[in-house]
Parts: sequence; structure tokens; C-alpha cells
Amino acid sequence: MFTTFNPDELTLPIVHNLMLTSVAPRPIAFVSSIDESGNINLAPFSQFNVFSTNPPVVAFSASVSGRTGETKDTYKNAKATGELTVNIVTYDMTYQMSYASSEFPPEVNEFQKAGFTPIPSDLVKPPRVGESPVSFECKVLQIIDFGDKGGAGKMILAQVHRIHTLTAILDENGKLDPLKIQQVGRCGNSFYVKLQPELLFPIAQPQANIGIGIDELPDYIRHSTVLTGNNLGQLTLNQNFPSEDEIKSFKNSESYRYLSQFSGTEQTGQVHRAAQDMLHSGNHRLALICLFSFIS
Ligand SMILES: Cc1cc2nc3c(=O)[nH]c(=O)nc-3n(C[C@H](O)[C@H](O)[C@H](O)COP(=O)(O)O)c2cc1C
Repeated sequence: MFTTFNPDELTLPIVHNLMLTSVAPRPIAFVSSIDESGNINLAPFSQFNVFSTNPPVVAFSASVSGRTGETKDTYKNAKATGELTVNIVTYDMTYQMSYASSEFPPEVNEFQKAGFTPIPSDLVKPPRVGESPVSFECKVLQIIDFGDKGGAGKMILAQVHRIHTLTAILDENGKLDPLKIQQVGRCGNSFYVKLQPELLFPIAQPQANIGIGIDELPDYIRHSTVLTGNNLGQLTLNQNFPSEDEIKSFKNSESYRYLSQFSGTEQTGQVHRAAQDMLHSGNHRLALICLFSFIS
């Protein structure tokens, strides 16, 4: 059963909840900017992502406040001076970052208020955040304005002209190591997620050679009551069906002999659980061979 909502008939807090709890976790841009008088500003924005890598472009949205109807200082600064830094937020920065989101008057420098270290940027006037593992120096490309009502986004697209990373989070090939950054993400309500290495898992990327489609798998596999959607997805990592030799060789194995003791639906359950264990240990080829060995 699903509950369906029409945003046109809902209040802003309800739409806010539905949108921002659904689209989560969101990365956080900790944005520094500067006004025409030189006042420095720092604020977090989780309606944020990367939209191009050639040229490198990030975008975030500084919405009109649903509470006060005011536009954000970051938006005014981006429009007036066109320069920003976008800094990545780690768990160690979270509580200070949250404090920096308080509604301070424009002349208050949140670097000072929230205890962050300003590091002069190479190309733009706003300083970057010394505590961030990665900082982008950006120039505003375009601002897309979704209106002036509370909650209306003002989407700031900015081109990245310098990228500063902590050397310690680069791997031996000079690439950023996803296990070492440990960003925090914003979830619904007041929840955050701390990106720890044990929460990350790799999936081999589909390559030019497309794997076997789930629609090509025999019903015996596709309609399994044991194999999950993820298991069927793991089987698609195979680019071809098992050969006769592969099946013949599996039929000489201890696993095959063990599974052959069973019959009927009991055997199906045992075979599918064995294939599931193989998938769990990353052996998608063996899992497919095992499954095909029991198709008569
Ligand atoms: C983690 C986090 C994410 C936020 N994301 C957004 C956002 O995407 N858009 C927005 O308008 N405000 C967001 N806010 C609230 C702003 O940070 C807050 O309104 C801040 O006072 C704006 O500062 P400024 O007026 O100096 O630009 C977020 C706050 C936090 C703590």
C-alpha cells in the first residue's frame, strides 16, 4: 500500500519533510562567501551536489527561509560578488558546522563564531575552511531562482577552479580514497549519517560488455523464494551463461554431491541458499554455475 501526496495541497513543512527525508543522505556544502563590504560568511547547504566534471560544476540551493521569508546571506553574496568556496564536512566538524547555520546577522563572521580556521584562497576572495579535507574554490556561473515564497530555492551553480585536498586522503596513485574522507550526510528531520568505512561497499561497475539480464534468467532462478533482488542483480555481473565444461566441472565438486542428496523443493531451497552464500562471498560466477547445474 502507498500513500500519495499532492504537493500543491500541502503546507510547506509537510512538503519539506517529504522531500528532504526522501532525498537523503545529502552531502553538505559548507560555503564561504563575501559581501561587497568584505564581510565573510560561512553556512552549510545540503541541497547540494556535483553536476558536471568537464567543466567541474557544483550546485547548491539557498532557499528563502520558510520561517522569516528572508533570503540567505550566501545567496546575496553569490549574486553580488560571484565568488565562493565549497568545503566538505566531516564528522569532526558537524556540531560546529550546525552552529554556523544559526541565523547570524550578515556582518557576523561564522568562521570566528563557530571556531573554524580561515585559510586564504588562491583565486577567490572568500577563505576556505582549514578543517575541511577537501575545498573547492568556485566562481558563480548561474543562479536559477525558483521564486520568492518561503522554501523557494535559489540554485547557485558554480564552477570549480581550484581543488585542495588533504594529502593524507589521497591513495598511492594520487586519487581521492573514498574510505578516507569520512563525510557526514544530512538525512530527514535532524538526522545525520557518518560515513564510516564499514558502511561502504563496492559494486563492480557494469562495463562495455553488458551482463546477463534478469529477464534472461530461467524462471527457476528468477522466481526463487530464496534469492533476493540484490542476489539476482549480483548474477547480472556474469557476462555469459555457464558453459558445458563449467557445469561438468562443478558436477564433480563436493558441493554438488552434497546438494544432490536432496530432492524436489527441498533441493531447490538448498541450491538457492548455497548460491546465495557464493554471492555473499563475491563469487557470482560459481553461484550461476551452481544454479544452472540443477536445471534439468
Ligand atoms: C546541515 C545543514 C544543511 C542545510 N542545508 C540548507 C540548504 O540546502 N538550503 C538552505 O537554504 N538552508 C540550509 N540550511 C540552513 C542554512 O545553513 C541557514 O539558513 C543559514 O543560516 C544560512 O546562512 P546565511 O544566511 O549566512 O547564508 C542547512 C543547515 C544545516 C545545518
